[in-house]
Amino acid sequence: MKYNKEFVERLSIGTVDYDEIIVPALRASLESVRGKKILDLGCGNGRYSRLFARLGAQVMGIDKNKNQLDLAIEREHVDRLGIDYKSGDIRSLGIGRDSYDVVLLMFVLVDTSTAAAVKDFISVASEILKRGGLLVIADLHPHNINRHNDIENVTPKGEYSYFDNGAEASSRTWLNDGTAVSFCPNYHYRLDFILNTLAEGGFCLRKFVEPEYRTAFPTHMLVLARNDKTEPH
Ligand SMILES: C[S@@+](CC[C@H](N)C(=O)[O-])C[C@H]1O[C@@H](n2cnc3c(N)ncnc32)[C@H](O)[C@@H]1O
Repeated sequence: MKYNKEFVERLSIGTVDYDEIIVPALRASLESVRGKKILDLGCGNGRYSRLFARLGAQVMGIDKNKNQLDLAIEREHVDRLGIDYKSGDIRSLGIGRDSYDVVLLMFVLVDTSTAAAVKDFISVASEILKRGGLLVIADLHPHNINRHNDIENVTPKGEYSYFDNGAEASSRTWLNDGTAVSFCPNYHYRLDFILNTLAEGGFCLRKFVEPEYRTAFPTHMLVLARNDKTEPH
């Protein structure tokens, strides 16, 4: 299993991209989240849930993987940030419509095996978000495919090109102790597919960030999209 106990424990050492790329990009791009209701979909070990809870948000984290969630809950018992964690699948959450200010999908698309599921996740985010609420997506940049770098490498399995939406891949991610772990399988989605899916889902792009970090090409991306859905008649 991809997220077996040994793997999730290694991952909890922390990754270079979290500290040096994504967190600085979030801090530079987001307005205050104090008092906001945030839903962290595919929260993993809860690192983003904790980040936002420390910034004063009221956070719920959801993940389908027990090993990841157990680590998040264990940390919560120590940190006591008031984060509520639940086991569940993003596609069948049973959470009320229009109930959250911010929904996070942090490194979840790369973990999603079909384009149909990516579309479902974005549509779930739209339902759960209040009108005007913010969807935050952080992920590997789709153009970081077949590029060699010491932050995160994405390699497609077989002869796929950039244009093969949903191509199976694997990625090697560097940890804070200088070692690396491999996520396998991972999946590659084209940038036009992600952005057009957001537009079709009623989202309006607020900010698209390609953090610059030690490479001549973008390794990661941050997408902030506002939920502009129209009220049901
Ligand atoms: C690459 S990890 C990212 C975890 C966390 N967001 C982070 O950035 O540290 C992707 C996570 O999404 C979860 N996930 C993938 N598909 C899911 C689904 N359909 N429902 C709930 N969780 C899901 C996986 O179990 C995994 O923990």
